[in-house]
Amino acid sequence: MTSAEQISFPHRHLLGIEGLKSDEITLLLDRAEGYVDQNRQADKKRSLLRGRTIINLFFENSTRTRTSFELAGKRLGGDVINMSVAASSIKKGETLIDTAMTLTAMHPDVLIVRHPESGAVRLLAEKVDCAVINAGDGSHEHPTQAILDALTIRRRKGKLAGLEVAICGDVLHSRVARSNIALLNTMGARVRVVAPRTLLPAEIGRLGVEVFHNMADGLKGADIVMMLRLQTERMHGSFVPSIREYFHFFGLDYAKLAAAKPDAMVMHPGPMNRGIEIDTVLADDIDRSMIRQQVEMGVAVRMACLDVLTRDLGNGPPIQ
Ligand code: NCD
Repeated sequence: MTSAEQISFPHRHLLGIEGLKSDEITLLLDRAEGYVDQNRQADKKRSLLRGRTIINLFFENSTRTRTSFELAGKRLGGDVINMSVAASSIKKGETLIDTAMTLTAMHPDVLIVRHPESGAVRLLAEKVDCAVINAGDGSHEHPTQAILDALTIRRRKGKLAGLEVAICGDVLHSRVARSNIALLNTMGARVRVVAPRTLLPAEIGRLGVEVFHNMADGLKGADIVMMLRLQTERMHGSFVPSIREYFHFFGLDYAKLAAAKPDAMVMHPGPMNRGIEIDTVLADDIDRSMIRQQVEMGVAVRMACLDVLTRDLGNGPPIQ
């Protein structure tokens, strides 16, 4: 048992990376390592969550995140229910609280929530009496994505501290970017963001990152190049002149990747817009791309999160 394994997880919910300490993140990463091995065996099932009810409550479309949480819950022996609430039926505020009240009456142990509005998952967590995991709220946070990205990087590079990580593309609309910036800074990596000015949030200067507006400078010497999806569904108005021009300047291909370290690895949270933010051959190149490993690590990380939140149920204050 490492020293991080002995530290208990003092939070009732997992609402974001902000508020997590480095030893708490390390605890989740170490716990997930064990589940990676379990998930590669023929018998993947354990009974840790036997008798527990987990509800996947998704107010926004999702394939991999919802499936990943569902598998994670089932592999730990829990009962998993999927509830998808169509975006059109959301009458903000009241509906969310009503849903929370209804679900609470069913005595779930963990609620996994994705919602298009930033802050909605925290609001819901305040109204229910079970553990809540944020599976993505608006452009705010997506903590399990950042933890699975960290596990993918740590397994490949052997560490997080001291690495140069370039996060590129639509940072403005990306909860993945926010959670990754928070996690990587906490773990001692150095983060740069590379994006056109129109795709950066106003508060970028306060996030502890170096900002670049072209790939050649931003990728120089990077160990990891993390690409983000151009999130057109969150764009109201025109943020990029044209898709062709976007790929020309900000799409990752072999030529742009050449500015990074020779052993630099490429990541993308999915779903990918092939040919828009990333060259399709590069995305599938197992020598340069870790996109498949990210998906694999996702299940293990979500098992670790369910594990720690149910073991320590009710033992501490929520993450602030
Ligand atoms: C991300 C999300 O939903 O925030 N995807 C994911 O969780 N796999 C990123 C994205 O949608 O681009």
